[in-house]
Amino acid sequence: MTIHTVVLIPGDGIGPEVMNATRKILEAAGSPLQFVERHAGVAALDRGGDDVLPADTVAAVREHHVALKGPCTTPIGKGFFSVNVALRKKLHLYAAVRPVRNLPGVKTRFEDVDLVIIRENTEGLYSGIENQITDDVIVSMKVATASACHRIAHWAFRYATHRRRKKISVFHKANIMKMSDGLFLNQARQVYENDYPNIAYDEVIIDAGMMKLVQDPTKFDIILCENLYGDIVSDLCAGLVGGLGVTPGANIGDEDAVFEAVHGSAPDIAGQDKANPLALIMSSAMMLNHIADTRHDNTARVCGQKIRDAYNKALEDGQKTRDLGGELSTSAFAKAVIERL
Ligand code: NAI
Repeated sequence: MTIHTVVLIPGDGIGPEVMNATRKILEAAGSPLQFVERHAGVAALDRGGDDVLPADTVAAVREHHVALKGPCTTPIGKGFFSVNVALRKKLHLYAAVRPVRNLPGVKTRFEDVDLVIIRENTEGLYSGIENQITDDVIVSMKVATASACHRIAHWAFRYATHRRRKKISVFHKANIMKMSDGLFLNQARQVYENDYPNIAYDEVIIDAGMMKLVQDPTKFDIILCENLYGDIVSDLCAGLVGGLGVTPGANIGDEDAVFEAVHGSAPDIAGQDKANPLALIMSSAMMLNHIADTRHDNTARVCGQKIRDAYNKALEDGQKTRDLGGELSTSAFAKAVIERL
């Protein structure tokens, strides 16, 4: 059996708790993985470092190409830059992929939700270019480059083709941001017309799109967005299927990939063994699929499916954490999954 090295970055807040639960499940499932642990965020400072994104953490991901990451705290309105955004930029992880599906035993307003959000991960308003023009005026720059817009559109259509998805909807605001969102939209349209005419394609102004999503999410398949819209749409979609505790994600580039839940470090419940580890567990199953696809290792795919079957069974049996209306702690939910592997 080939053993793949994965970098574990526990992160801040609930990160170490959900990472610990996920690691135990990966080990109990006999996954073809070994781990090296590196730190980022406040956790890196707490360990005596002077950088929230230490060079050896970035170097480890570059060396091993795959990481599983917990959330990192970003101070609001002051303090250090976002570690998450910096990591995505440094490693050129330009595609964020966030599948949103109903889960067994998790009752929500809608059934048959099966969406994938694909978010451009390197530019837009997340470029962090903000200038103070006068005492009272701040200007934030939204960056759109033809190359990055083209790259993410291509990636989304290729993903749709491989996964046999039917339709891509681009959420945009090109009626107002005619140049930046206009470029994003034009690139997506060109990729569709020139290279992927067999996949259905539509363009939706994002405000109306959000309304349509909460009225009937089953009308959508893949949603393609620039960076900030993708962030917001992801959390709304998480709310359609049970919340942030059940929404996994991946940040993918041409060389490296970092898998992480959509949720943040949840300081309100950190350190209390209350967090739902499922989103990170699901991200780890996505990671096993990625390893299977990129390194042609079927053992990884089988293991990912084994983990999926076990958490679905646990949910069907009513084993749930508090965010889903159950009573289990983080560690008790992990135990329930392990018992069903
Ligand atoms: P958050 O996602 O951490 O929490 C929002 C709400 O959802 C809270 O009530 C929290 O308790 C709940 N929640 C989140 N994950 C949960 C889980 N696994 N189980 C049960 N409940 C869960 O978002 P918030 O409060 O806006 O951000 C907190 C910090 O996380 C900030 O510093 C933010 O910058 C950072 N953040 C980091 C991300 C990352 O590392 N990728 C993503 C989003 C936020």
